[in-house]
Amino acid sequence: MAVLITGGAGYIGSHTCVELLNAGKEIVVIDNFCNSSPKACDRVKEITGKDFPVIECDIRDGAKLREILAQYPIDSVIHFAGLKAVGESCVKPLEYYDNNIGGTVTLLEAMKEAGVKTIVFSSSATVYGEHNKVPFREDMPAGGTTNPYGTTKYFIEIILKDLCASDPEWSVSLLRYFNPIGAHESGKIGEAPNGIPNNLMPYIAQVAVGKREKLSVFGNDYDTPDGTGVRDYIHVVDLAKGHVAAVKRAETVKGCEIYNLGTGVGVSVLELVHAFEKATGVKIPYVIAPRRPGDIAYSYADASKALAVLGWKTEKNAEDACRDTWRWQKNNPNGYDD
Ligand code: NAD
Ligand code: UD1
Repeated sequence: MAVLITGGAGYIGSHTCVELLNAGKEIVVIDNFCNSSPKACDRVKEITGKDFPVIECDIRDGAKLREILAQYPIDSVIHFAGLKAVGESCVKPLEYYDNNIGGTVTLLEAMKEAGVKTIVFSSSATVYGEHNKVPFREDMPAGGTTNPYGTTKYFIEIILKDLCASDPEWSVSLLRYFNPIGAHESGKIGEAPNGIPNNLMPYIAQVAVGKREKLSVFGNDYDTPDGTGVRDYIHVVDLAKGHVAAVKRAETVKGCEIYNLGTGVGVSVLELVHAFEKATGVKIPYVIAPRRPGDIAYSYADASKALAVLGWKTEKNAEDACRDTWRWQKNNPNGYDD
């Protein structure tokens, strides 16, 4: 039996493919490559020495999904495919609702028709909104999202909960990621953002490699120890292993379960900058800039449920992630482009 990976050529998807293959799973990848390269899948094959089908397919294409589900012995799905840029989602909300929500509904319809009722979904800590207090726990009220991207995650969680309520055969895992950073330690796969990075770690990496002059630190007047925003940065390989644990559980337990995938440790912007400098020996010039609208002071997980139920916890720290990011960035200054 095989796991269908939507968005498997993307940043988190490609790392998860490696860990699933290493765990002995068969996989089938689908992606429309709107934010990724098929080369990432070639690199996954190089790293693992294993082959698997990679199919160009948009999750909004129900007919093609049905063909794929009929052709391969798929019994579960890990659903990464989606658009993820917060700023862009405010400018193009309909594209986000169509791609993320419309695409998910089309995928679920095709799965239902094929009798495949196990899905692990990429949600986000963004569903905790602005009002909950850290550390975020899975039983806190979700919602209060501040942008269409975040709202798509919140709505999809509700859709998946409703689906479970309607049919006890469904098995749904909602994985709420905190801030994924880092790269595979081979330096062959990593995050390859298009244009100017929105997120902190890829921006730091591009400053380090000389593509950007300096980092702007968005605000140093938050109510945090050094005044800069505090986040829970999780190494992408740890995150990928969390999916292996979640899919194993989802194969045997029905109903809807929610798990935070984070370290449980808060790290400030300046602490991450210093961890990068320490891990790589490269100085990161920065300036203090105004706060970025929509940012909160603190976001970090209570990661105890994933440990108690999935037996999963993070094994790597921020310095490991900085070292691995740097290896990937140095070896691939233009991402997967030659
Ligand atoms: P990514 O953009 O690297 O990967 C997403 C993949 O989905 C890409 O390969 C893209 O080409 C593909 N895709 C998008 N729309 C598609 C469609 N309609 N049909 C088929 N393929 C499509 O992003 P990522 O960082 O790997 O994120 C994976 C998932 O995790 C996303 O759903 C994202 O919202 C979620 N997530 C990411 C983060 C993060 O910080 N990276 C945090 C929380 C949640
Ligand atoms: C952002 C998104 C969130 C999404 C997550 C993963 C916003 C408001 N939130 O989270 O919805 O799930 O990415 O994709 O965009 N920072 C700088 N300078 C920079 C970039 C970031 O100082 O150039 C700071 C930010 O202010 C924040 C921290 O670094 O304090 C982390 O930022 P980022 O990597 O963008 O992640 P989040 O804002 O946590």
